[in-house]
Amino acid sequence: MYANACARCHDAGRAESSGTALQLQQAVALYDPDPRSLIHLLRDGIAPPDGEPARWMPGFGAILSDEQTVALAAYLRRYGAAQADWPDLADAVRKGKE
Ligand code: HEC
Repeated sequence: MYANACARCHDAGRAESSGTALQLQQAVALYDPDPRSLIHLLRDGIAPPDGEPARWMPGFGAILSDEQTVALAAYLRRYGAAQADWPDLADAVRKGKE
């Protein structure tokens, strides 16, 4: 999933266009003790505030199932950040939609 959906921007490293983005080993959200910011970001992406030119990332909420969101977040946490698994990840993904 990472290779298909994320790598084309995130393997590039950060440069000027939104088609390039920081390598995810540097992503703050992967080191957060709470998985909710990553889940939120995966679903909704990042939109610049109205009218301001800023960096943009698409949301994947319509594409990824709950299971895929859990798998992708767990993968990023373990292999991107080398942090211990989030114990409440599946729960947080389920609740995030309520
Ligand atoms: C069209 C390009 C693009 C795609 C595709 C994309 N992103 Fe992003 N992503 C961005 C941009 C731009 C940012 C803002 C950060 C930056 O400026 O480098 C960002 C930010 C993030 C952050 C926040 C960084 C932080 O500091 O916490 C995470 C996590 C993230 N993306 C994960 C993903 C994952 C996982 C996927 C695949 C499901 C994905 N992105 C797909 C462009 C993209």
